[in-house]
Amino acid sequence: MSTDGIVKIRDVKVPGETYTIRGWVYRKRIHGKATFIVLRDETGVLQCVHHPNLNPQVQIPENLGIESSVKITGLAKEDKRAPGGIELEITGFELIGPSHMFPITKDQSVEVLLDNRHLWIRSRKLTQIMQVKAEVVRAAREWFYENGYTETFPPILVGSACEGGATLFSLKYFDRMAYLSQSAQLYLEALIFALGDVYSITPSFRAEKSRTVRHLTEYWHIEAECPFKGLEEIMQVQEHLFSYICKTVAEKMPDAISSLGRDPDYLLSIRPPFKRITYDEAVKIVQEKGIDMRPGTDFGAPAERALSNHFDRPFFIYRYPEEIKPFYVKRDPDNPGYVLSADLMAPEGYGEMTTGGAREEDLDNIIERVKAEGFDPADYQWYLDLRRYGSVPHSGFGLGTERLVWWLLKLDHIRDACAFPRVLNRVTP
Ligand code: 4AD
Ligand code: MG
Repeated sequence: MSTDGIVKIRDVKVPGETYTIRGWVYRKRIHGKATFIVLRDETGVLQCVHHPNLNPQVQIPENLGIESSVKITGLAKEDKRAPGGIELEITGFELIGPSHMFPITKDQSVEVLLDNRHLWIRSRKLTQIMQVKAEVVRAAREWFYENGYTETFPPILVGSACEGGATLFSLKYFDRMAYLSQSAQLYLEALIFALGDVYSITPSFRAEKSRTVRHLTEYWHIEAECPFKGLEEIMQVQEHLFSYICKTVAEKMPDAISSLGRDPDYLLSIRPPFKRITYDEAVKIVQEKGIDMRPGTDFGAPAERALSNHFDRPFFIYRYPEEIKPFYVKRDPDNPGYVLSADLMAPEGYGEMTTGGAREEDLDNIIERVKAEGFDPADYQWYLDLRRYGSVPHSGFGLGTERLVWWLLKLDHIRDACAFPRVLNRVTP
């Protein structure tokens, strides 16, 4: 109990005790002379009832609207019909902030709910998703901390592209152009020379011009970079981190994830090592499923979905063709035309969760590939310096937080992994 005597709804447990809670009116109904109020806070909902004959001193405004904020004192009683088995007999009531005609009622269209996102985030579903997302990020930080990584804070305003020009947001930066960061990777590559194993959790931006259920224009990117690690070792980092996040969320929030439709035992069953298949093997699986795909090209959405549906646990696809990966990916010395890159894929149709791999060390090779992507090596001088002064083999990866939450909670659309989603046609609220 806090010192002011106010408790959270989840702590209203013992029949016969008097409690004071604060929250928002979730539901209200009048039955005979009694008023029933279901109150909501961030920890749950609780049914409160006022019988005027028992507590005539209490006045509940007749026009008390949904989402009004109130303070209620009451006596806890066992009641099998109440959600949670406990009901509060109201002995004190205070209106904090009234709410008239809350704009969200039952059966609203998706667009109306998105227009009212600032209010819709109060829904039980979105509240629980946001709580799970916070736990995902907390667990990731914990894993990095326990494994000796240093958190870093790379810039968001940047002067050169990391992931190609097609999805770059540009803006006027005084008298020159700048971009919103697509990935912290190039900066993390610089930071390993000072700090060893590093990670960052930053917003990343992609000017994705298509509407899909898996693309946002702004997302939270969990990225890591490690000196002296190769492709296999960075896959091991990812499978351990990924499993740790699944386990932590399953253990800490079993009720939330079950009510969102994911079995906590399934998440607990996700453990390293994850299956690894090569790009060539992945293409064969796709073709066997009757989906048209030319070897050497990237997986389109149907191919990625089919491949992901083929598995019931996360898996890696590794050793991609060079043409479909960016300039910084290391060429595979044993397989000409291929690079040491890997994607961590979620099963059940969700697809790509991470991309990572070993970084190219050869200076001339990077310059040649920067040019091939249509960029000016002059914009990458600082990055090229990393290959000039004490270069070491290194590797890293990037994990999309919302992609992970989307799969973890079996959401229909990735936007529900964001309080305020940013997609092609939406930057407000
Ligand atoms: O695959 P991507 O583009 O790889 C990189 O950015 C690397 N530079 C990361 C690194 O090695 N440090 O993006 C990494 C991950 C994807 O696997 C996906 O989970 C997520 O970021 N992602 C998106 N999530 C939501 N909406 C989008 N438009 C996304 N684009 C990428
Ligand atoms: Mg990728």
